[in-house]
Amino acid sequence: MLTVVDRPLIQYSVEESVRSGIKNIAIVISRGKSAIEDYFDDSPELEQFLEAKGKLDNLQEIRRISNLANFWYVRQKKALGLGHAILISEKFIGDESFAVLLPDDIFDCDIPCTKQLLDAHKELGASVIVLGRVDKEGTKKYGIIKYKQVSDRLFQIEDLVEKPGPEKAFSDLAVLGRYVFNPEIFDAIKNTPMDDKGEIQITDAIRILLKERPVYGYLFEGKRYDAGDKQEFIEATIDLALKRPEFSHKLKEFLKAKIS
Ligand code: G1P
Repeated sequence: MLTVVDRPLIQYSVEESVRSGIKNIAIVISRGKSAIEDYFDDSPELEQFLEAKGKLDNLQEIRRISNLANFWYVRQKKALGLGHAILISEKFIGDESFAVLLPDDIFDCDIPCTKQLLDAHKELGASVIVLGRVDKEGTKKYGIIKYKQVSDRLFQIEDLVEKPGPEKAFSDLAVLGRYVFNPEIFDAIKNTPMDDKGEIQITDAIRILLKERPVYGYLFEGKRYDAGDKQEFIEATIDLALKRPEFSHKLKEFLKAKIS
């Protein structure tokens, strides 16, 4: 629920999903996260209050938010890793392909990042994950792939390792926070052992899936911010505010005055 500009981080992922054509969204939550459920729900008392105060812009915005999509909530009782969070959503997803969005990553792209993956998935029929290039530090923060390049932006994944560090990294291509999976990922997750921290890593499940099916990586077009990184969080706030007509003019003046 951390705010970037004027909306919680998770709203960027929700809006990206909606702009990519996804209308049914399950959010994996845990104890203490019910503010998320309330945020995307109707708020009749707040609506009445805003109407009485004549704050019609705000009223329109909160109605827009609760009508963005159909929301379901899946509770993860213990923090057993990303693979586990995906597995407990199986009942909601059923036997269909689906996208996974990690809300810490904000993607700012002309064609929404998830849409870029869905288009590649449609063409290939295989699971596709989003890739970005990273420096040495990045090899400690992300899953890193070994690949065969298929075209400019498309890579067939041969292997991948979770946060290998610069010495053991296969390449500078990292897995970022967007995935489109076919439902066979669920069996792969079920066959994935816990790692030494007691978590089920999606990276390990993808390695298992690779033995049976091809998996591709797609180097997305656009900009991405890791909102879990303080510097990038600040940059995202400034960049995204500059893109909003209601803030851009005054903000540019403010920044100019600071720099000069
Ligand atoms: C997860 C994945 C990792 C991926 C990253 C992208 O890691 O396990 O492979 O590179 O998301 O943000 P986490 O950030 O949960 O440690």
